[in-house]
Amino acid sequence: MKIVKTIESVRTVVEAARRSGKTIGFVPTMGALHIGHISLIQAAAKECDFVVVSIFVNPTQFGAGEDLEKYPRTLQQDLKLCDKAGVDVVFTPENETMYPGQNLTWVNVEKLTDRLCGQFRPGHFRAVATICNKLFNIVQPDVAYFGQKDAQQAAVIKQIVADLNMPLQVVVCPTVREENGLAVSSRNRYLTDQQKKDAASIYQALVKAQQLVDAGVLESAHIIAAMRTILQQGSSIQVEYISVVDAQTLQPIDTIVSQALIAIAVRIGPARLIDNIIVQAPGNSV
Ligand code: PAJ
Repeated sequence: MKIVKTIESVRTVVEAARRSGKTIGFVPTMGALHIGHISLIQAAAKECDFVVVSIFVNPTQFGAGEDLEKYPRTLQQDLKLCDKAGVDVVFTPENETMYPGQNLTWVNVEKLTDRLCGQFRPGHFRAVATICNKLFNIVQPDVAYFGQKDAQQAAVIKQIVADLNMPLQVVVCPTVREENGLAVSSRNRYLTDQQKKDAASIYQALVKAQQLVDAGVLESAHIIAAMRTILQQGSSIQVEYISVVDAQTLQPIDTIVSQALIAIAVRIGPARLIDNIIVQAPGNSV
């Protein structure tokens, strides 16, 4: 496994792989790798001949007062995990490499970024879309892998790829969960054991939503109220939002008629956690 820090060197190794006829799979990350990230790497290794992982804590996507400084950085451990998972190249650029001067060009996705996390993290998705566009231009992958856990991010990336005619395919992989249902996240390490236990109610609320939909309860207000009751049982949880939205447009829906994305964001102690599921109204299989 190669570890490279410069744009030139990642381009050189990827170009050599492409010249030898290999397909390039790419998994962008901010490091502090866990089994969620590894599942994306495994999908890339299965479907592509050559796997590139980037590890870069992108400063521009953190808002004022967010956790940029204390975001976990575990590079040596990350490199071991990448090696074990069959990664060919890890790209670990410095801030100066990704942002060598004043960055005056930003990728702004309309509508999809107004709601859900976009409301609470102004500028976040603009920065995510921009860094992913930069990384795609550097790595030039055939396929890029993202996690369903960050459903809005995945939707934004699919949109920029389509709108800007980027020559790559976006694959969204299922959310990997802890035994108690909590979605695995680099930010889970901010939680105490008690907070982790409380955080299990995020998944319980999503399971409740699924059960209601399966039973034909399709009004968003009813579903959201039931979910809120479950979340409020965890004493350390503060709900930021619970939303039922169209899975593609992310626009809110009052009554689920076919497919819907049910998304949650909460604060637990020092952590902000998000999770979601996609539900299907009964008799409306896709
Ligand atoms: P990061 O939070 O490190 O996540 C990297 C990728 O792993 C994302 O696509 C995310 O959705 C996925 N992922 C995280 N937890 C997961 C889980 N439990 N199951 C499945 N996939 C999971 O997301 C980012 O970094 C950044 O915004 C990035 C895209 C790298 C741009 O800076």
